[in-house]
Formats: sequence, C-alpha cells, structure tokens
Amino acid sequence: MINQSKFNAPALAVEHTSPGLEGVIAAETVLSHVDGAAGRLIVRGHDLEDLADWSFEAVLSLLWRDLAPDALDEESIRSALGRARVNASAVAASLLTATDKLSPVEALRLLLSALADREELPHHILAVAAVPVFTAAIARRRADKAPVEPDAALGQAADFLRMLHGVPAGPNHVKALDTYLVTVADHGLNASTFAARVIASTKAGLFSSVIGGLCALKGPLHGGAPGPVLDMLDAIGEESRIRPWLADALARGERLMGFGHRIYRVRDPRADVLKGAVSALRDKGGRIGFAEAVEAEALAILAEKKPLRPLQTNVEFYTALVLEAVGFPRDSFTNVFAAGRMAGWTAHVLEQDKTGRLIRPQSRYIGPMPEGPSALAG
Ligand code: COA
Repeated sequence: MINQSKFNAPALAVEHTSPGLEGVIAAETVLSHVDGAAGRLIVRGHDLEDLADWSFEAVLSLLWRDLAPDALDEESIRSALGRARVNASAVAASLLTATDKLSPVEALRLLLSALADREELPHHILAVAAVPVFTAAIARRRADKAPVEPDAALGQAADFLRMLHGVPAGPNHVKALDTYLVTVADHGLNASTFAARVIASTKAGLFSSVIGGLCALKGPLHGGAPGPVLDMLDAIGEESRIRPWLADALARGERLMGFGHRIYRVRDPRADVLKGAVSALRDKGGRIGFAEAVEAEALAILAEKKPLRPLQTNVEFYTALVLEAVGFPRDSFTNVFAAGRMAGWTAHVLEQDKTGRLIRPQSRYIGPMPEGPSALAG
C-alpha cells in the first residue's frame, strides 16, 4: 500500500523563475562584494583600490584566512607557492605533448586535470601555484620553446614572467602583473566562482571544483574578452584614424571594445587600479600612449553619441594593455585571468566546504504531462 501522506506533502513553493539567477542570492560569503551602483569592489573588508599595492601572496593570505587549514602569512605563502610550482612543473613536463591540438585554455584544463586529490601539498596552494607553471609551459611550447623550470625563491608574479620569457622580468613588469593578479583575484559570485561552489557543495574535491570554474571562465561571455580590445587597436592603426574609425564603428551599430559594464554603472574600480599599473609601463610614444589616445577619444564620442548611458572604460581595456605590455601572447590571456581568479575560486571552495550545503535549486517543468490518469489516482 502506498503511503499517501508522503505524496500529499506540499511541494516547496517556487514563486518565480529567474533564468540567469539575476537577483537571486545563492550564497553568503565573507570574501568579496560587488557594489555596481557605487562602483565599489570590497574584498574582505578592503576596497580594491587599497589592495593595489599589496602582493598577490598577501591577498591570498587575506582570502584564505580562517578558511584554509593552516593560516599562512604572506611570506609563508610565498615559500609554499614556490615549492608547489616545482611540483607542478613535473606534471607539466610529463603531459605537455598531449596538449598540442588544444587551445591554451583547453591545454590548461588538461594539465590541471592531472592533479590528484591525494597530492601532498595542500590543494589550494598547489592549484594557485600550478596555473602560472602550466600557462608559461603551454605558451612556450606553442612557440617551439622548452619549458623553463620554476625558481622557488621568487614571488609568483616574478616567476610567472621568468618562466614565460626564460629571463628575469624588470620590476615594472613584475609589479604590473602582480597588480593584475590582485585586481582579478575575486569578484563576488561570478559565473565561474558559482560553478566552483556548486561542485564543491557536492564534496567532489578542490581540483574538480576549480577545474569547473576554469571551464566556465573559458566562455567568451566571461573570461574570453580582452583579445578584441587589441584587435580594435590594431584595426585603428594610427592616431589620425582614431576619430573616424570610432565614429564609423558606432554608426554601424557596433560596440567599442573595453567600454561599458553590466554591473558597474558609474565606474569599474578594477579599471581604475589597472590604469595605474598601465601608466607605470608607459613606453614613449608607443602602444600605451596610442591606447590612451584611443581611450580618450572613445570616452568623448560615447558621451556625445550615448548621452543617456554612462559608458566608462572597463577592466578588459586595461587588462589587454597590461598583459600585452608584459609579453603574454593574446591567446594566453584567459589563462592569466585564471591565474589570478584561482585565488578566489580556492577561497570560495574552502568557504563552501566549511559553511555551505549542497546547492540544489529547482526547475519549473514546462513540458507535457503524461496522458491518462495518474498511476497514483484512486
Ligand atoms: N560601445 C557602444 N555602445 C555601447 C557600449 C559600447 N561598448 N556598451 C553599451 N553601449 C550602448 C548600447 O548600444 C545601448 O545603446 P542603445 O540604448 O542606444 O541601444 C546602451 O549602451 C545600453 O546597452 P546594454 O546592452 O543595455 O548594456 P549592457 O550593460 O547590457 O552591456 C556590456 C554591458 C559590457 C555587454 C557592453 O557595454 C558591451 O558590449 N561592451 C563592449 C564589450 C566589452 O568591453 N566587454 C567586456 C566587459 S567587462
């Protein structure tokens, strides 16, 4: 006999459908807060602008505090990351040939998948250490160059550039990359962070969770955007063509790459921080000067043609300039984004593991019902 009381239990009330989960609060976090109306990004009690001078390792210490098993300070994290980069490079060496037919982000996905949950180093440290090692090795292989072994004594940004170029980078370049990694370290419950938290909520493990984050980041609607900014600068070509090129693009109904934002309505604080990093890289009359001229003209023409919509420079514009200036190939940009965002993914996975519960929303069924009476009726 069927226990009817089980089937007569009222279903949980589902009030409305929100296809992109807009307006839905799906997690509580101490990690970061995006305030689009005020143009603020708060990371564990600090405005992003106040973190601009911090090292990436110091921001990791901030994000992992009280969540990771050992509370490590900046210096201990620097040393642990150095050791973990050496471990990761052994993984890259054995698998690099398998990445030859893949894009750089697919190659990164493949190499991260080789990290087993039983690795000796704490997973969150190995995950953050591995991305620069893998990204540099993948970029060099695509240029027919052998990987460069990590230097465990260096900071993460300095070693990232050394592994990429094969020679130590100048302090301005190291600082600019460090600032970039800090700037993109965490950004609320964005799509990749949410994906990582959903996987973490099933207790699948840290590597599975952050690889899920990387898969979400791979999409052009999330992590694949800075390349088009450089394509636009290339297409404009020279200063005399800036105004007519931008005017033609807008007249054709096109969008200017690197301007506007869905959430930040007044300013994108990440763009402001990266602008500072870019100005320290100024090359006389070179690419950055040209880009600044394009930016100034673009802001002027957008204010003129779209007076009702405040359109400011966004993070992708300066990301493109920073990453190009420090020598990353354009097709590696998503991987470099992942190198920074891995900080946030690991912290969210640790937080989810500690405080969250299985994430299991509902769907509203809009398909056909079976014909005939229900098997339960009568
Ligand atoms: N260039 C020209 N016009 C733009 C624009 C841009 N970069 N961004 C927005 N607009 C215009 C739209 O054409 C629209 O004008 P209309 O009302 O006359 O049709 C108006 O501003 C509102 O557009 P909307 O689609 O509502 O803006 P959004 O907030 O949804 O879009 C972006 C946000 C980021 C998708 C959009 O600004 C964009 O496409 N930017 C360029 C791509 C880019 O830089 N991406 C990286 C984002 S970090």
